[in-house]
Amino acid sequence: MILVTGATGNIGSALLKELHARGAGPLRGLTRDAAGADFPEGVEAVEGDLGEPASLKPALEGVRSLFLVSRLGPDADILEAARLAGVEHVVLVSSITVQTHPHLGPAGENLAVEQLLKASGMAWTILRPTQFASNSLMWAASIRAHETVSAPYAGTALPTIHPADIAAVARVALTEPGPGHRGRTYALTGPEPVSARQQVEAIGEAVGREIPFLEISRRQAHAQMAAVFGAEAADAVLDVTGGDVNDELLMVRDTVSQITGTPARPFRQWASENVDAFR
Ligand SMILES: NC(=O)c1ccc[n+]([C@@H]2O[C@H](COP(=O)([O-])OP(=O)(O)OC[C@H]3O[C@@H](n4cnc5c(N)ncnc54)[C@H](OP(=O)(O)O)[C@@H]3O)[C@@H](O)[C@H]2O)c1
Repeated sequence: MILVTGATGNIGSALLKELHARGAGPLRGLTRDAAGADFPEGVEAVEGDLGEPASLKPALEGVRSLFLVSRLGPDADILEAARLAGVEHVVLVSSITVQTHPHLGPAGENLAVEQLLKASGMAWTILRPTQFASNSLMWAASIRAHETVSAPYAGTALPTIHPADIAAVARVALTEPGPGHRGRTYALTGPEPVSARQQVEAIGEAVGREIPFLEISRRQAHAQMAAVFGAEAADAVLDVTGGDVNDELLMVRDTVSQITGTPARPFRQWASENVDAFR
């Protein structure tokens, strides 16, 4: 039995589809609202809250392989619940910032989860993706309302990744027989650098009209973001999206194609697949 957490999210929903399409055996998706889950036929929807690890017991029963998104609850307790339930292998979604920006708070938290997993006694595979193409959904409401999209660091091009490519790597790690991907840490990127301005252009091509774009200052962006998730988190996001990027973060890697045998998907593919969110 494979349990996918974050199963209704960008990576998790793609992962369940991949696993199901390839007949990967009994599958279960974790959600806080099973009635609202739209999983492939035959995938079991199980309720549980990562914020309350005791609630995960039914979801973990019989599970041998676990796909885990981090930092949605007390990860030490979540990993201990998995170990006690008999989980043998955990594929963890961490972040590339663990190696590019280890001084930032969220990166330190991800590193701590990685270390907990390595010390857990379970086999592990750690995925460190760069920023997701799906982050551009933050512009969806403005685009649908035909408003101007505003973003800082408009020309900073990062190798944004399609969440389905993270899912594809996770599927291989979860299902390939033998020790191949166990004990491995993979930094994952998309196939090419793409800036915020280029992302909005690609979404414009998908919806069939030019989307007005305005570059704003770090200070303006910080004021907007800090109101939603706090000043420190806003600074961390602004650093890794343009304010303090480094060669390691800018680097395009071929890890996705090496592991899956298929090239990583470009941003414009994500935009055309998700065009309805912007209409
Ligand atoms: N966005 C980026 O650029 C980026 C970069 C590196 C790493 N990451 C990491 O990638 C992970 C996955 O991202 P994503 O985009 O696939 O997710 P997402 O689309 O934002 O969806 C979040 C998922 O987490 C689940 N969830 C949230 N709180 C939960 C809780 N308390 N208990 C159980 N489930 C909970 C939700 O399930 P229900 O609502 O159905 O319960 C949903 O399936 C994130 O955790 C993030 O830390 C993101």
